[in-house]
Amino acid sequence: MAGEVQRGLEDVVALESRICFIDGRQGRLIYRGYDIRDLAERSTFEEVAYLLWYGRLPTATQLADLRQRLAELRTLPGELVRELDALPATANPMDALRTAVSAMAIFEPQETRPGPSSIGGAQRLTAALPSILGTFVRRRAHLPPIAARPELSHAAYLVYALLDREPTELEARAIDVALILHADHDLNASTFAARVTASTLSDLYSAVTSAVGTLKGPLHGGANERVMELLGEIGTVDRAEEFVKAKLARHERVMGFGHRVYKVEDPRATILRDWSRRLGEAKGDLHYYRLLEKVVEVVHREKGLYPNVDLYSGSIYTLLGIPQDLYTPIFASSRVVGWTAHVLEEYEDLRLIRPTSLYVGPTDLAYVPVAERS
Ligand code: ACO
Repeated sequence: MAGEVQRGLEDVVALESRICFIDGRQGRLIYRGYDIRDLAERSTFEEVAYLLWYGRLPTATQLADLRQRLAELRTLPGELVRELDALPATANPMDALRTAVSAMAIFEPQETRPGPSSIGGAQRLTAALPSILGTFVRRRAHLPPIAARPELSHAAYLVYALLDREPTELEARAIDVALILHADHDLNASTFAARVTASTLSDLYSAVTSAVGTLKGPLHGGANERVMELLGEIGTVDRAEEFVKAKLARHERVMGFGHRVYKVEDPRATILRDWSRRLGEAKGDLHYYRLLEKVVEVVHREKGLYPNVDLYSGSIYTLLGIPQDLYTPIFASSRVVGWTAHVLEEYEDLRLIRPTSLYVGPTDLAYVPVAERS
């Protein structure tokens, strides 16, 4: 009987989608027909957002309009800013983000409140996430309040929001590429959570609130933070071999490795590895890059596992000076595009997502009144 259960829904085809295709054997990732390697090389995050939402690449005018729209939507409602200001500075930024996304549904002005299938809501959420994070982290870091800075790209605005400085051209491009690579990934756990919520005809904000909570887990978006913790524990390249081997011998997971779908190297890891090196060279600091390469060698030799997207992203964010607890929120700032694209697709072809379980408990117990129970 137990053989009928696909634990973790592994290999279960839950729905049809036109958004994202992963070829786990060839190590290919496709957004709406376009290879991620081409998009990472030649497009921008705003272009990819348009592609995922509308299903085609934008013309120059459409792209300029979207950029302007996202920039206009950066300013948060005053009530939301007050809500964020009321949170303790010690709060986990993913908790703050989840709370703020949930609160957005309440503070959205009635006249601009998106309908249940509104692409405007997707854009509002995407534009708001860096502002939410910026509002929260600037207060705890005693930085000046955030300004909308409409002239900055989404990637540059995110860095400005988090650090109160504009990135260099190379840094902005590194973040732009990271955002492109994280924007969607088929029915990953957080996107599935968003679609399950949407499939009840709940609203976009509820769906994205579910998704943020799901992304937070260390087996999903939280892995990039754990990778940097691991590198900190290892310390130097000469300690890596022994450290990683001991960890594997204790049957502990090495974060940033393995994937449910990819059986070869995650193509996003390949691209981010290159960016980790490029940024490290530009800053004269290849410490993390070298350490990661050694860990990759040992984990592959010992376990046959390949890196996933989370292995290298943290090293890039660290080189920019971004605090570790903001890595997963950066992931969310990108994946919100994929979440909302999937939610909009769910609304178009709605079918309540409601699987079933294989019940393995008792069925014929006799009820005993509370006073008679021992
Ligand atoms: N370190 C050590 N061993 C691992 C790892 C790892 N990172 N990943 C898988 N394994 C081992 C398991 O222990 C298991 O070994 P066993 O058969 O000897 O018990 C085997 O590989 C299969 O592992 P499963 O957990 O069954 O594989 P699954 O497909 O469920 O796991 C997952 C995928 C959760 C991502 C897993 O590889 C993992 O925990 N990785 C570390 C966390 C991580 O990096 N998450 C980010 C994923 S990408 C993303 O969400 C953006």
